[in-house]
Amino acid sequence: MSAAKPIYVTQPDLPPLQEFLPYLEQIWDSKVLTNGGPFHRRLEAALGEHLGVPHVALMTNATIGLVTALQSLRVTGEVITTPYSFVATAHSLLWNGIKPVFVDIDPLTLNLDPARIEAAITPHTTAILPVHCYGNPCDTAAIQKIADHYNLKVIYDAAHAFGVEQHGRSVLGHGDLSVLSFHATKVFNTFEGGAIVCPDARSKQRIDHLKNFGFVDEVTVVAPGINGKMSEFNAALGLLQLQRVEQAVARRREIDAMYRRLLAGIDGLRCLGPLADTVSNHAYFPLLVDAAFALTRDALYEHLRCHGVHGRRYFYPLISDFPMYRGLPSAAAANLPVAHAAAAQVICLPIYPALTDDDVRRTVALVEAAACRRTTASALFAT
Ligand SMILES: Cc1ncc(COP(=O)(O)O)c(C=O)c1O
Repeated sequence: MSAAKPIYVTQPDLPPLQEFLPYLEQIWDSKVLTNGGPFHRRLEAALGEHLGVPHVALMTNATIGLVTALQSLRVTGEVITTPYSFVATAHSLLWNGIKPVFVDIDPLTLNLDPARIEAAITPHTTAILPVHCYGNPCDTAAIQKIADHYNLKVIYDAAHAFGVEQHGRSVLGHGDLSVLSFHATKVFNTFEGGAIVCPDARSKQRIDHLKNFGFVDEVTVVAPGINGKMSEFNAALGLLQLQRVEQAVARRREIDAMYRRLLAGIDGLRCLGPLADTVSNHAYFPLLVDAAFALTRDALYEHLRCHGVHGRRYFYPLISDFPMYRGLPSAAAANLPVAHAAAAQVICLPIYPALTDDDVRRTVALVEAAACRRTTASALFAT
């Protein structure tokens, strides 16, 4: 085990505590803690403007956001989704009594492969639930074409995709709804939190009712809603975080570029992306380890861990391999060869604004040592 300071895959980005105290004082003075208070209203408006999207409904987290988004569009039956994601993606379907149908992913983006969607559509299919994995946009045009042809809803799990743009517009504007996560580990965090991006005021209003138990007014309940409201504490932090997020993404961009430069040329390693005409948020740094590398992905993961660098095998195991999913016909390994290969090859390296250049060099040096291709120390530290 290493005595050096541990480096984790991520570290939450927080403003100085002193900057948050005036917000807390306002909450203490007003006694408005939740239920759509002033900070909640301000953050919804500010996020709409920042992200360039028409309507934002803040949520307590993305998982409840996904459950609520599916409810709001009255999705039932079967939904086509990816096995290569965090388990909340598919759990949101089970919480709605919907059957997930897993479709394989594209080897270049690791997102749902549109070429494989049509074969999975049945008379029970009502929607597609793709994920912008690692914040890399799905092939939204191809997915929408299929959805239009078969009259399916599209809900994007955009948990990783805060601020991502493609072809000059927000990726969050695609489909019927998009769901963001503001969890502590995300590019933009409100401790816990999330949001549903809605195309129009009517869909936002339905979500606003659903996230407040279905209440429309004091005495009227129109749906079996849930408690999905974001508190004033989370919303106030969000306003403060919004002032910092561009700087945070800029630092992530530097780290991403540094990894790419230092890892270039090592046999058996491939950095995912970058995608053409895309403004990335650099939420993750996924590295694919193939048979040409000296170690397996798992051996590299252990090697880094032993030396205090805690990468993560996102997304291993696949969702389709968890006990509540593996009995589904679509969960069969033969149906998902690309997802299985990715789950065996990817390790996400540490990336967060407070990560130093030395931390990046230390991580890369460990990877190089594993590859037995260590360049001279002077070359490495001259970058
Ligand atoms: C792809 C994806 N979907 C959904 C979620 C759930 O987000 P939350 O923790 O805000 O509920 C996550 C969380 O990490 C995620 O990575």
